[in-house]
Amino acid sequence: MEIKAVIFDLDGVIVSTDEFHYQAWQSLADGEGIYFDRKINDNLRGISRMESLEIILRKATKKYSDSQKAEMAARKNNYYCKLLEKLSPADLLPSVTNILNDLRTRGIKMAVGSSSKNSPVILNRIGLGTYFDATADGNDIKKSKPDPEVFLLAAERLKIASRHCLVIEDATAGVEAAINAKMYVLAIGQAKSDMRAHLRANDLASADFVEIFKNHGEYQCQNQD
Ligand code: BG6
Ligand code: MG
Repeated sequence: MEIKAVIFDLDGVIVSTDEFHYQAWQSLADGEGIYFDRKINDNLRGISRMESLEIILRKATKKYSDSQKAEMAARKNNYYCKLLEKLSPADLLPSVTNILNDLRTRGIKMAVGSSSKNSPVILNRIGLGTYFDATADGNDIKKSKPDPEVFLLAAERLKIASRHCLVIEDATAGVEAAINAKMYVLAIGQAKSDMRAHLRANDLASADFVEIFKNHGEYQCQNQD
């Protein structure tokens, strides 16, 4: 099996906007007097804004109407977008540039597959607005990860069959989405101990891409703790 395309998750894989999501949700929760911490935040990786809010509201002591929820999601997004204003190409996570260049040299197609509706803004701010061969994001899909929709759409836009795609993810919801799309998946960061992933590494910098491509996908699962 040959890997012909790599589909990158965005937040937490290419850029550390996952930290900004955490800070923005923490501000919202503090303002509402709702308990929230980093552990709860880890459950929000990869899933949509409204689904994230529903998880946060499990700790709330009062009920919120749909319009109040919509206002809270908008408030969180305002906090988040304020944090995004300081993003620049310097915020690319370690070794992203090298990996992108290496994949380009190998003739591998590249896409972004993200649940975020802010993806276009983020990609522009980090200087990758026109870099990828395709993007699929929260603006294009009806169901967010773990549904495979965003990855299937990215592969369709690349014109590459699922079985030739490698997804890189930091969220367990994203690992599941890739498996549901019948793609290979490299789990990093918070998802690195997800045994469903075909490949696992602490971060992108420690993922052995030479080995991955030498094996053209026939790479065995291994722990890199
Ligand atoms: C994903 C993040 O990339 O995008 C989630 O991992 C986030 O934490 C989701 O909830 C939606 O993001 P946005 O920018 O549309 O609120
Ligand atoms: Mg992510």
